[in-house]
Amino acid sequence: MSLVLSATSRSSTARPLHVLDAAGFKNWIARQSAEIQTYLEVIGFGSGFGEILVVPNLRGGIECVLLGAGSETDRKRHRFLAGRCAHALPEGDYVLETPPQYEDLETFALGWVLGGYQFDRYRSRSQSLAKLVAPEGLDKAKVDALAGGETLTRNLINTPASDMTPSDLEAAAHSLAQSFGARFSVITGEDLKSENFPMIHAVGRASDVAPRLIDFTWGTVGPRVTLVGKGVCFDTGGLNIKPGGSMGLMKKDMGGSAAVLGLAHMIMSTGLKVKLRVLIPAVENSISAGAFRPQDILKSRKGLTVEINNTDAEGRLVLADALALADETPPDLLISMATLTGAARVAVGPDLAPFYCDNLSIAGALEGAGFQVADPLWRMPFWDPYETMIEPGIADLDNAPKGGFAGSITAALFLRRFVTQTQNYIHFDIYGWQPSDAPARPKGGVGQGTRAVFAALPEILNL
Ligand code: BES
Ligand code: MN
Ligand code: ZN
Repeated sequence: MSLVLSATSRSSTARPLHVLDAAGFKNWIARQSAEIQTYLEVIGFGSGFGEILVVPNLRGGIECVLLGAGSETDRKRHRFLAGRCAHALPEGDYVLETPPQYEDLETFALGWVLGGYQFDRYRSRSQSLAKLVAPEGLDKAKVDALAGGETLTRNLINTPASDMTPSDLEAAAHSLAQSFGARFSVITGEDLKSENFPMIHAVGRASDVAPRLIDFTWGTVGPRVTLVGKGVCFDTGGLNIKPGGSMGLMKKDMGGSAAVLGLAHMIMSTGLKVKLRVLIPAVENSISAGAFRPQDILKSRKGLTVEINNTDAEGRLVLADALALADETPPDLLISMATLTGAARVAVGPDLAPFYCDNLSIAGALEGAGFQVADPLWRMPFWDPYETMIEPGIADLDNAPKGGFAGSITAALFLRRFVTQTQNYIHFDIYGWQPSDAPARPKGGVGQGTRAVFAALPEILNL
């Protein structure tokens, strides 16, 4: 059930909510009764970012609620003003009487809803949540679509690898596809070899759960948009095994596919006029006698040969075969999303989603949309001079260049080699994980780049 109530279903006891910065608070308090003025003098209200104060009435009930909007500096440092409301406010309905001046209604409402997110598959928590009555001018259906997509992304990432195998990921994609009437197909196990997806097979063959390529299409009108998401359900590193500390979070290595499915949910549930295709290579990068090895040379779907210099650089291998397929029916826009490199995290940290795109007007639209909808992005370069770094001795490509330079860029360049027919390609090297609680983003799996892309699509595709 949505935490945004339609205006018609508000209860008669809905409480007024005022979003106030320091100046707004001064104005507001001047217009209150002597009792409230005295109460606030005693209790104090600093109007800090997201600060909440419940003001009682003389009957012991709730007169209203104040929510601090913070200073300009605060607002540069934080996003989602209402991010703590759902949990921190007493259960009930709240009506926005003094709306936020510094955050648009959509972001405000979304922050409220996402702040109520909890992953309760393994622990039932019965905390009741406060609800926001949809303010006038809010597109409630859109907020529900955005929140639904983000919730799906988070749930998929948060689910441990034991319950989110390639087969479980397929089931999740299938159920999403089915609920919107999309056409769904999948190529599994040995069929990957006969259907020419050799690198997806090679990376995933050491696992007891077969590797697979998930493929669904939806929509009959408009430009073609193809989304490709990295679905490494667990990344041990393979024979180049990761040390414990680095493996600890690797259930999130299907974060790209979770993001792509969340974005697909947003697109399909709002009925965007596009022809959507979603491709997910779903594998586990495991260790067994049959695992692929360092110095193996794999022949990719596209025909390019790849020398394996590190089995831990597996994401680019499975994505390469999926991108090659995507490129065979060139879409108007091709987007890959992947938790591809540790280097991306080193470069920009967990908050920003780095992306690559050679088309500057698309990149500009994306970056602008990202800041507009509080899903911040930063453009990185497909830097041609580094192409030589991914060219080894005895194959066409090297999956793991030595030297430790520009790891996220060389991974992006590797992927771009498999996209030759499509004009517009965007690649995201995301982190997919919120390391500690922040407003509307509890610690755990998180979508990155999805809402920005969704917001920018109309401009990019002239919809
Ligand atoms: N899934 C990891 C990348 C990753 C690590 C993302 C930590 C987010 C946080 C990927 O498969 C990987 O292991 N990449 C290697 C590539 C290297 C061996 C060339 C990396 O980044 O260290
Ligand atoms: Mn890896
Ligand atoms: Zn990986």
